[in-house]
Amino acid sequence: MAKSSNFICQACGAATNKWAGKCESCGEWNSIVEEIAADITPKGLGAGKGRKIKFENLIGSTEQTPRFAVGINEMDRMLGGGLVSGSAILIGGDPGIGKSTLLLQAVAALGKQGRKAAYISGEESIAQVRLRASRLGLLQENVELAAATNVRDIISSLEGANAPEVVVIDSIQTMFLDNIESAPGTVTQVRAASLELIKLAKRKDMVLFLVGHVTKDGQIAGPRVLEHMVDTVLYFEGERGHQFRILRAVKNRFGGTDEIGVFAMTDKGLEEVPNPSTLFLSHRQGQVSGAAVFAGMEGSRPLLMEIQALVSASQLATPRRAVVGLDSARLAMILAVLETRCGIIMHDKEVYLNVAGGLKVVEPAADLAVAACLISALTNIPVPEHTVIFGEIGLSGEVRQVGRSDTRLKESDKLGFKSSITPVLPPGKLSIGNEGLHHVQELLSYFRSSAPVKMANKRD
Ligand code: TYD
Ligand code: MG
Repeated sequence: MAKSSNFICQACGAATNKWAGKCESCGEWNSIVEEIAADITPKGLGAGKGRKIKFENLIGSTEQTPRFAVGINEMDRMLGGGLVSGSAILIGGDPGIGKSTLLLQAVAALGKQGRKAAYISGEESIAQVRLRASRLGLLQENVELAAATNVRDIISSLEGANAPEVVVIDSIQTMFLDNIESAPGTVTQVRAASLELIKLAKRKDMVLFLVGHVTKDGQIAGPRVLEHMVDTVLYFEGERGHQFRILRAVKNRFGGTDEIGVFAMTDKGLEEVPNPSTLFLSHRQGQVSGAAVFAGMEGSRPLLMEIQALVSASQLATPRRAVVGLDSARLAMILAVLETRCGIIMHDKEVYLNVAGGLKVVEPAADLAVAACLISALTNIPVPEHTVIFGEIGLSGEVRQVGRSDTRLKESDKLGFKSSITPVLPPGKLSIGNEGLHHVQELLSYFRSSAPVKMANKRD
């Protein structure tokens, strides 16, 4: 049997028998560490016996986790009702998306309630943070501010009796332990610094926020290596060119992961968006062809958004297909279904598809709305007014059920929509007018009735 090697990549766990600067299997740099493999078979443990652990029943008495609110509703709701003392929260996101802004607003909101909150910046100087705070109108709030990067200093400062209840470390990539040689931002540093800070948070019962940048190249450790070490992982996402930002939980030991918080980046910082659908539809231009309103779901929350399509003649052998905010494979499938099952030919046309507002749609429930705006763009006939659309399209052209139809329709009703085009819904009380479709072919009737249809090369 080959001798087992003891150089382990700390990023992917691959084992090699010699040290290397770059892991062969995952490509991570500076992640290979020598580990002394201990023999842990019963024989290897020797004669000494371990302590007996006590088993308990699932049912038993446990106290409710005490929580306290941040004071930013969108954040509290998506955290499952507030912060839990002694927990560590990682917030990841692209640089410049608004992580520092959000957390500065969070510590200020906590300070306003009389809670002791500290903000430690490793990226910006105190003057820069003050400048941001003055822009956000938060200068008067009670926040403890520091600029530091040495974890040893940070830990000794927070160890005292009068420790803050909430500490923000912005960002973990800038922190370093002086007993480790690698540069800040490397896997080893990021991991060791987080471990020390998390241990401190558990010991002092404080809430620790760690900010982590997600970088595209593998050189700097992204927050992914930390995900298993923390209790909650949030991602702050959005398109830089757009106002909207979504805070999403991808892991939460103290709550569900299907909640999102919606914010808008304004010149006065992040504003909560309690009713996102209104915002995403606010620039709608009434009756134009090539646009459809999709009643989508973001976790457990209904979200109405506009899907737009443009279909134009092409001189290219392979016409362009450009998709923003949707899966391009999904578009290819819908185009194929429209062509094969309904005879709507678009293979000689350029097709552009966009979800307005910079949102990303992953639900197959958007299929029917995509099909509707494609047909509308091709025929130049608007989708019926005040109508929302949702439903999944199968490969034979059948329109399939999707989850939470009720919630989608209720939200549409709230926003003043009068009718809906959906899969055939089970009988029940519907909040708005409804047309149930069995097959995507039935969608065509909406575009035939109002004007003469110039359906391209309609097949028999
Ligand atoms: P920031 O919080 O620094 O991002 P991160 O910490 O995720 O890198 O946000 C920076 C962006 O936000 C920057 O491009 C400017 C913008 N911004 C506003 O639009 N309004 C504001 O009030 C603030 C403070 C920032
Ligand atoms: Mg920042």
